[in-house]
Formats: sequence, structure tokens, C-alpha cells
Amino acid sequence: MKHLAGKHIVLGISGGIAAYKSATLIRLLVKAGAEVQVVITPNGKEFITPVTLSALSGKPVICDFFTANTGEWHSHVDIGLWADAMVVAPATASTIGKMANGIADNMLITTYLSAKSPVFVAPAMDLDMMAHPSTERNLATLRADGVHIIEPEVGELASHLVGRGRMEEPENILRVLEDFFTPKTMAGKRVMITAGPTVERIDPVRFVSNFSTGKMGYAIADEAARRGAEVTLISGPVCVKATHSAVKVVDVESARQMLCAAQDAFENCDVAIMAAAVADYAPAEARSSKIKREHEEVSCLTLVKNPDIAATLGRAKVGQKLIGFALETEHGEHGIENAQEKIARKNLDMVVFNSLADAGAGFGTDTNKITLLWADGRCPRECSLKSKADVACDILNAIEELCD
Ligand code: C5P
Repeated sequence: MKHLAGKHIVLGISGGIAAYKSATLIRLLVKAGAEVQVVITPNGKEFITPVTLSALSGKPVICDFFTANTGEWHSHVDIGLWADAMVVAPATASTIGKMANGIADNMLITTYLSAKSPVFVAPAMDLDMMAHPSTERNLATLRADGVHIIEPEVGELASHLVGRGRMEEPENILRVLEDFFTPKTMAGKRVMITAGPTVERIDPVRFVSNFSTGKMGYAIADEAARRGAEVTLISGPVCVKATHSAVKVVDVESARQMLCAAQDAFENCDVAIMAAAVADYAPAEARSSKIKREHEEVSCLTLVKNPDIAATLGRAKVGQKLIGFALETEHGEHGIENAQEKIARKNLDMVVFNSLADAGAGFGTDTNKITLLWADGRCPRECSLKSKADVACDILNAIEELCD
């Protein structure tokens, strides 16, 4: 994900306990490639030191209109114009009130009033202050002024009371910004994705499955949603979660259940991405009660072949783009040949080849190394080892080219 790379973010920090989370937010923004300029209110400095903030952002923190000993003027107009986005996190009731009413008595508010960029506000305060009609009125004014409110969470507050007013976690604020800066190149596209392993029951406590964690499929689902696609994610049992709220997740367990859900979604989709590691075989019979070794000697398990979901959809294709995965244990020519063979056998438009023989690729890792192969005979595209989020971008870029 490179959507924040090179972006100029003004981070406004006001005086709330949640200011300690601003340090993490700066780290995440810088890691995502953004440049961060902190503007802090005088009260904000009581909660977190400018030394921490300037060390993390790599820029002096601005609080006052001028530096006292040199008289150097800090232009709020220039900072406002420099910004691609302004984020006020934490935003206290007081700062929200001042923003809503144009009370320009500190650098943060004057910068806000000068900013031409989109503005995001992450409120942080005690539950009663949050629920007060005055705060609600001020937030309504900000919304009407076009400010994006990053809603606070319900949880334990600094007062130890539990309620609504906890500032959204830095990771989620980052996601809101990434979402905002992602071009909506897949708007109007319906994308279905299968992900994770399938689990085939032997009895109520045992099963046949594989080591898939679902990370790759979920990363594709999140990125497609970020690009504006309508995403249905058909997922086997996994521990990961979709981070984008617009991803519709359909939970399934077995290959047969995954097939039914996939056939349902396929009819009305534009793109189907088969990232699931479907178990090739299932026990011929799933016992309804636990097999007890004291009572029964089980020396062999009879397996039956599972349906091939990708191939079934390949036969039903009427204009949808169908993308498969080929996870091989060999790399190089042999692996590529195996992957190529799947294109014809399953009627795929593109296949994403990855190999367990490549370090950092395959199940469970946060990285992957892929080669893209097409049905139309164009040259395979070998990509370098990247985070699964970045691999998801490469895959979706290639799919967008296919759909053009
Ligand atoms: O045949 P193989 O398992 O190597 O093919 C991998 C591709 O086919 C993946 O895209 C996978 O999701 C899909 N597949 C499937 N149903 C199966 C087996 C594989 O959809 N039963």
C-alpha cells in the first residue's frame, strides 16, 4: 500500500490523555511514507513532550505563532497550504468547540482555518463530555463544514468509566487516511474472493485441512474495498479479520459449503479471485460423535475428492474475470509450468503463482513472492518479495488491466 507515500499530513494535537497515542500515529504515518508536521496546542504539551513528537516526525513541533528568542514567525497559512490532509488527534471538546466556532486563539485553530485540505477529527474525551449537547452540536457543525469525524470507540476511559469517547486507535486512523487517499479505481466492480483453508470434518473434534491462514485473500479483499469495489469474501475458518468495514464476509467451513457460497456470489460478480487453499479431499463420512480409540481401531481413513470450485466457476463463466492461485513446492520452470497448466484446466484468466520453496512466500508469512501468468499468452511477470498488502496491490493492478 503506497497510497500515503509522499503525502503531507498536519497532525494537530490537543490536550487530552489520548495524546500519548499521537506518538504511535506519527510512527505509522512516517512508516507509510507520509511527511508529518505536528502542530500542538499549549495544553497538548502538558500531555506529551514536543521532543518525543519532533524526534518521531523528524520536524520541529509548532505550538506558538513565533519563536520567542528569535522572533521567527510560524506561518499557519503556509502550513495549511502545505497539508494534503490535516488530522486532529486527539481532538478535545474544547478544540472541537473552537474549530466549530472559529475561535482562533492558538496555532492549531489558525492552521485549521487556513487549511485547504481535507480535515479529519478524532474526538477523545470523557463519556459525559462526549454525550453533551454542546459537543454534539459542535460535531454536527464540523460535519456540515465538510470535516471527517473519526468516531470514538466505546471502551474504558482515562476516568476508568466505560463509555463512548475513547479516541480511535492509531492503526484505524491510519486506515481511514489510507482509504481516503486510495483512488477509487474499482468503484462499481463486484469482486468475490475465496480465502483461508477449508476444514473437512472427521468427527466433531477432528478434521482434515491445511496450513493456510487466509492472510493473502484478506489482504486482497481489504485493498479491493479500499479501491471502491463491492467485496464478498468467502472465508474458511481463519484467525485474521477484514480490516475494511465494507468487506462482506461469508463464513464457511468445508469445500462443499465454499462451493455453494461461491456459486451464489459468482453469478453477479465481475471478478472472482480464488485465493482459498481448498482441501483436496474430505473424509467420506463425517461421524456425528467422537471416535473413541478405546472402542474402535481406526487404521485408515477413506477420503473422497472435493469439488474443484475454481474449475466449476470456470465452466460457468459468462464474462467474469476468473483468477486462480497456484501454490507449488517447486520454483523456477517446473512451478511455472504447473501454474500455466491450471489456466487451461480451470479456464482462468490469470493465475498467481507462488512457491513454498521461496523464503518468505506461502502460508502464514506476512510477505509473499509471486509471478503473474495470463491466459492470453503475455509474458509472465515476476514480482519481488513484498508485504502481502503490497502483493495485493500488484494483483489488483493486474486485474484492473485485465478489465480495461
Ligand atoms: O488444483 P490446485 O489446488 O493446485 O489449484 C489451485 C487453485 O484452484 C486456487 O486458486 C484454489 O483456490 C482453486 N481450487 C478450488 N477448489 C479446489 C482446489 C483448488 O477452487 N478444490
